[in-house]
Amino acid sequence: MMKSMMKWLIIAVISSLIAGCSTGSTEEESTGTHSENGMNHDMSGMEGMDGMEGMMSGHMDHNNPISLEDSKGLNELAIPPLLTPNQSGDADYTLTAQKGEHAFLQGQETTTYGYNGDLLGPVLKLRKGETVRIKTINALEEDTTFHWHGLEIPGDADGGPHNPLAPGEERTIQFKVEQDAATLWFHPHPDGNTAEQVYKGLAGLLYIEDERSDSLNLPDNYDVNDFPVLLQDRAFTKTGELDYEAAYNSDGTLGDRLLVNGTLDPKLSVPQGKVRLRLVNGSNARNYTVALSSGDSFQQIATDGGLLNEPIAMDTLTLTPAERAEIIIDFEQLRKVSDLALVDDQGTILLPFEINEEVTSSELPSDLNSFAVTEEEESLPVTKRLELFGMMDMVTINGKKFDKDRIDLTQKVGETEVWELTNKPDPMGGMIHPFHIHGTQFKVVSVNGEEPDENLKGWKDTIALEPGDNVKIAISFANKGVYMYHCHILEHEDNGMMGQIEVK
Ligand code: C2O
Ligand code: CU
Ligand code: CU
Repeated sequence: MMKSMMKWLIIAVISSLIAGCSTGSTEEESTGTHSENGMNHDMSGMEGMDGMEGMMSGHMDHNNPISLEDSKGLNELAIPPLLTPNQSGDADYTLTAQKGEHAFLQGQETTTYGYNGDLLGPVLKLRKGETVRIKTINALEEDTTFHWHGLEIPGDADGGPHNPLAPGEERTIQFKVEQDAATLWFHPHPDGNTAEQVYKGLAGLLYIEDERSDSLNLPDNYDVNDFPVLLQDRAFTKTGELDYEAAYNSDGTLGDRLLVNGTLDPKLSVPQGKVRLRLVNGSNARNYTVALSSGDSFQQIATDGGLLNEPIAMDTLTLTPAERAEIIIDFEQLRKVSDLALVDDQGTILLPFEINEEVTSSELPSDLNSFAVTEEEESLPVTKRLELFGMMDMVTINGKKFDKDRIDLTQKVGETEVWELTNKPDPMGGMIHPFHIHGTQFKVVSVNGEEPDENLKGWKDTIALEPGDNVKIAISFANKGVYMYHCHILEHEDNGMMGQIEVK
């Protein structure tokens, strides 16, 4: 799947073209250590320009041309509270989308959105087998929805664009947790307005636990050896605001500052032993290829929707928007390494680690799950084909843009089908589209006709397609209803790179 060499070559060519014709000037934000060729990220000079320049800027943006600044490690990573059940009332949990102020920068208050707080949300921990009722409240001044990304849930509770809550409205949803242990998340999904609400701070994590995950002895002590790591990039204005319109790019809004769990310049204090990081790419558009600064490997133990069959040793791991991975880092092995950090493929410091005096036990089981693509699934004929194409606001699926009143596909509840996903390149090469389907988890059957990489052999709800890629997935829905499928570059989603399937 990785054609990064090719990719960089194309970027290099396009960048030099742009450098020759761009009207913008280098801004102070882009003079960071990792800035590539001082490319301007202020696309305002390009607004209204059609054709080549616009097209090229789109492609560049998708390849993260706005470099991230290093985390200076000034602030201990914020760990969201676990959502506590209601003491009484008609629901087990309450989540309120609200407006707030958050101090990211010294002496500056930023207007933000959050769930039950000023920024992001609590972690909702659920158990397989339990039935839960969640009261959702919209305390914003605009419509929103509560979407449960990765959750197997009936369509009318899924929080897609058909389930808006008007300002002041509330709704209690109920569902039974029927899927395996996983790290999922929730975020808004209002019609055409997902990207801005997520950008302002609406996102939270949802953990599912089950008997298997309990019995495995994995690091699972929340905030001790099991940490959420929500990666989001943002651009702050001079007055410290998150100005979505100013930062907007139709191919995916990027920023030069990384927030991890909403923390600017984060660091994480960890014990000596095996530590589990639940990585979630909650960015609008940025892809992250993470590694340890020492070059040491780590173990991936879970994909979007559950545990892999066994830990997989990895040197680098790429997460496109909405993808998750659980990894285990052995800080006992690494305690002598100085300046250890999680870095990206540019060497940018994302999350510095401080290894403390505590020592935790350090066994990692080798047998985690029994996931498999069955022979039957492998031999099923392709019954649905989806072609992803385009850039900026010219993005389509099978040549069409999202229409709320059009059902694009239907499928029978409980029936497995094989879908073929393709990313059709354009004359400029094309771009990566992270493709996501609501309401279920799927299996990757093949990538470009070949067996998928080891770390794709687990439940997925989002998969990155590079230009030219052809991916077959086996998918079934356990519940009925109307579900979205779309590119998870949030600006592409809002621009109509989305369709809907009715499961009957
Ligand atoms: Cu993360 Cu349509 O969802
Ligand atoms: Cu989703
Ligand atoms: Cu896309």
